[in-house]
Amino acid sequence: MTTKKIAPSILSADVMNLERDVKMAEAAGADLFHIDIMDGHFVPNMSFSPSIVEGMRRVTDKPLDVHLMIDNPDEYIRPIVEAGADTIMIHTESTKHIYRSIDLAKSLGVKAGVVVNPGTPLENVKELFPIIDQILVMTVNPGFGGQKFIPGMTKKIQRLDQLRQTSADDDFEIEVDGGINDETIVKCAQAGADIFVAGSYLYNGQPGFEDRVNTLKKLVEE
Ligand code: DX5
Ligand code: ZN
Repeated sequence: MTTKKIAPSILSADVMNLERDVKMAEAAGADLFHIDIMDGHFVPNMSFSPSIVEGMRRVTDKPLDVHLMIDNPDEYIRPIVEAGADTIMIHTESTKHIYRSIDLAKSLGVKAGVVVNPGTPLENVKELFPIIDQILVMTVNPGFGGQKFIPGMTKKIQRLDQLRQTSADDDFEIEVDGGINDETIVKCAQAGADIFVAGSYLYNGQPGFEDRVNTLKKLVEE
């Protein structure tokens, strides 16, 4: 089994103080950074562009996990990899040929994975097990930070973990994103998730960031 990882989502960071917020997360023990790129078409919101990855790369050596919520992801994979991404995450519904899109990212030498929306059946991603490094289970509808965790997603994570355990191609991590806090993280960890993305819980709450990272880390310690 892999080690559990905490991934702050910079969508909830202060854009006017992004470097400060990245350094704060590093000092607090964040394992990697989650970067949401939205185009206003695939999801009803906009955020960041490939240049954010280049900027992040300049200020941190931690892995950069890029969550593409855009139409035609194939057009942007190369520039995002060249900007310094370590992992490219692609929604099944955003590309006509998900296998090809994942292959494209992998051919550029980075990790790649597939994202399943709350309504996306796991059946749709089983054939990708041999080529992926991560599966991201959305625990909210994609597009906005600060939403409430959808409780039914716990069972879905559990089912995915069972599928992984019974598959010969089990070499991928399960990531969860949306509404992760000190209660929902426990449910997701018990269900088999490995990487926990947290935005508003970490950046917008009291007590401060470092305490919250430590709380999440302790809750998922194995
Ligand atoms: C939502 C994004 C998330 C977002 C999570 O579509 O994919 O990464 O930042 O934010 P919280 O943790 O506030 O739900
Ligand atoms: Zn995300």
